[in-house]
Amino acid sequence: MGIQAVIFDLDGVIVSTDEYHFLAWKAIADREGIEFTREINEQLRGVSRMESLEILLRKAARPYSAEEKLALAADKNSRYRELLNRLSPADILPGVDHVIEELKLRGVRIAIGSSSKNTPIILEKIGLKDTFDAVADGNDIQNSKPDPEVFLVAAQKLGEDPAACVVVEDAYAGLEAAKRAGMKAVGVGFASGSPLADYAAPDLAHADLDQILALA
Ligand code: BG6
Ligand code: MG
Repeated sequence: MGIQAVIFDLDGVIVSTDEYHFLAWKAIADREGIEFTREINEQLRGVSRMESLEILLRKAARPYSAEEKLALAADKNSRYRELLNRLSPADILPGVDHVIEELKLRGVRIAIGSSSKNTPIILEKIGLKDTFDAVADGNDIQNSKPDPEVFLVAAQKLGEDPAACVVVEDAYAGLEAAKRAGMKAVGVGFASGSPLADYAAPDLAHADLDQILALA
């Protein structure tokens, strides 16, 4: 059957929003007097907003109530949305445009599989709103990565068998989600060192499409 579809994570694979997530969480942590390092931030890749907050609060000196947590998450999101206003097609990561163009030429279907509820606004800002055959995001799912739900929803929206899909991810949680969905997994950026990756590259500009499509 072979690979019929490529499902891309969004933040850190298609676009460099991962730094904006860091800056927004860092502002919240600093205000609350909670230690928040880049190392801790790496654990938030692919993880939902509320689960990210729980990880950040592990370093807090006191417990936070459910209402306080909702307020912190809302504050983080409005800071993040403010940063997203700066986004433009120039923030698309190296190799992405070429890979998308090549996949379309080869008749391979493409989708987004992201934990982010901000996916629609991000795709609009970077000019890729109408580019993908399907979009599955944080608004479609109950369980975020490493749960496979978002990738299974993407495959369902594409009408493809999960075994015919390959996922491109920058998060360990995302690679685990892909494997649990029964899909092949490509690790880029931070996830390029993961043993879960069937194929790895520093970014999509350095990825060999023939090898990726031969993974099935
Ligand atoms: C993922 C990011 O894409 O989306 C995570 O890697 C983020 O860091 C998650 O927490 C949820 O994003 P949002 O935009 O719904 O807060
Ligand atoms: Mg990501």
